[in-house]
Amino acid sequence: MAKSSSKAAVKPVHVLNGPNLNLLGLREPHIYGSTTLADIEKQVAARAKALGLAVVCRQSNHEGELVDWIHEARQKASGLILNAGAYSHTSIAIHDALATLDMPVVEVHISNVYKRESFRHHSTISSVATGVICGLGTIGYELALEAIKSKL
Ligand code: DQA
Repeated sequence: MAKSSSKAAVKPVHVLNGPNLNLLGLREPHIYGSTTLADIEKQVAARAKALGLAVVCRQSNHEGELVDWIHEARQKASGLILNAGAYSHTSIAIHDALATLDMPVVEVHISNVYKRESFRHHSTISSVATGVICGLGTIGYELALEAIKSKL
């Protein structure tokens, strides 16, 4: 009789970036630094490999597309890392989509939004995230991955 493996493969962690984050490295480098999104995705993939995880990284400037990808994560991901950019401060649709997930969700902000304009001080999505990482720069994505790994 063939021996079957008892350990199912862990699904990938989905890493979603929202509006304007495709311009990282070019956009307001005094706030966001010089690291590009492609650099971040490479760093996250390398950290995932070291942790025995896989990642799927995506970026969109469109709220509905982010909502669709969160729905997709319901079946296909083991955890979700989301920097929703400005939608973090406005989007009830993203809040509602995240509320349907039964997995660790980490909200990431590269900058410390609490040191910035008051309209950035409120997040519509933190209440449905497992945790929030904010103001630590682009390493925040890797820290989010570590946190998710610890919860799987
Ligand atoms: C951001 C902070 C948001 O306020 C802003 O709209 C962004 C990026 C961050 O990563 O620091 O686009 O989410």
